[in-house]
Amino acid sequence: MSDESGRDEASEAPRSPKGTHDVLPPESARWEALIATFAQLATRHGFGLAHTPAFEDARVFRRGIGDASEIVNKEMYEFEDRSGRRLALRPEGTAPIVRAFVQHHPGVPWRVWYVTPAFRYEQAQAGRYRQHHQVGVEVLGTEDPDVDVEVISLAHDFYVALGLTRFTLRLNSLGDLECRPAYLEELRSYLASHETELCDEHATTWSRNPMRVFDCKRETCRAVADTAPRLAERLCAPCTAHLARVTAGLDAAGVAWALDGRLVRGLDYYTRTTFEFTGTALESASDAIGGGGRYDLLAEALGGPPTPGIGFGSGIERVLLACDAEGVLPAASRDPEVFVVDVTGGEVARDLVLALRRIGIRAARSYDARSMRAQLKQADRAGAPLALIIGPAELESLTVVVRDLASGVQSAEPIEALLERAAADGAVRAVGS
Ligand code: HAM
Repeated sequence: MSDESGRDEASEAPRSPKGTHDVLPPESARWEALIATFAQLATRHGFGLAHTPAFEDARVFRRGIGDASEIVNKEMYEFEDRSGRRLALRPEGTAPIVRAFVQHHPGVPWRVWYVTPAFRYEQAQAGRYRQHHQVGVEVLGTEDPDVDVEVISLAHDFYVALGLTRFTLRLNSLGDLECRPAYLEELRSYLASHETELCDEHATTWSRNPMRVFDCKRETCRAVADTAPRLAERLCAPCTAHLARVTAGLDAAGVAWALDGRLVRGLDYYTRTTFEFTGTALESASDAIGGGGRYDLLAEALGGPPTPGIGFGSGIERVLLACDAEGVLPAASRDPEVFVVDVTGGEVARDLVLALRRIGIRAARSYDARSMRAQLKQADRAGAPLALIIGPAELESLTVVVRDLASGVQSAEPIEALLERAAADGAVRAVGS
């Protein structure tokens, strides 16, 4: 069979699917650094790691995120397994965590962090993938606005810890069951009178989820949204007080924010606080580096007891693009610190690399009984600054020649002594240096 470009499919090597990408060394060292930074911050904030399955009963997302949302309607990878169960690959991390909370009823407040792939059938482009990855946190069981401040500050501190400076935080409140229904009615009648001015998509869909019009990037919808009534000005007293306490807390934490009445977010579970971090050095079509908010009704929607919650997720690829744009978070060197060159059969190399690794040193060697020349070439290519060379004379005397590969300077030392010094120093050094 041939594809549209005329290539022969059967003989062609399969490639990673559209919108996905492999994360490989050395780039993956940045992933390790990013995830370690997030894990450390989350641990300091009292979050424990949670892993949930990559696929769930599709109802977790249909009920949790909302049937009318684009993510569920157009982008979810939904399928039947071989026994006819309706399943979906997770498009995001929050609904599965809340499903797990309802299932296991841990004590509250429950604070968990995660690092997970997420799957969305999107128009693949730079910064927008069909499988992306998120780090995130969720807190269940409290509606205290101080927790909103903690969660938002954690995201902020994460970006700062990575070295990012060019990002902004937009904040909004989506109200609650008290104030939102009346507002939605008002917005509906406003949109009804402007229906003909909306873009093709929203002219037909606005009544199902009128707030989505605020999210639309098309000029026609933007103009209508500009003069639409804003929820921020119609919040009930408790929602107003909640928002005021959040903004006061962010000020106290030194986290800059800006209110944005158009920030509605793409998931329908949000109530009250919503927020988004924008990387200002990124292309505007994919400049959200993280976002989140409250979802005080989600646990009930998934069959659990009424339990408020808040969290955020941050796209690893997007954050790394922001790091690229700002020239921060370079890949840490994973090059070996020493390269063992053994031309006596490889037994010394076998034992020495393991002994060195056990005392914490990145040690490498070559295999397949190569010549001295070939092994030294490989040591150079691997980026090792030092070679530990074992020839017949060294094997006889249980010594090793330590050679500085840049200068060629070398000295011999008993293997035992070298290992003892390396264990004490945490590094291998040539004698006298
Ligand atoms: P979200 O805004 O849909 O929220 O996604 C979170 C972050 O994931 C985005 O800010 C962006 O950095 C990244 N992201 C989303 N879609 C893609 C994509 N197609 N390609 C690359 N990166 C992407 C959520 O998922 C919520 N679960 C966040 C949350 C947690 N709300 C409360 N708790």
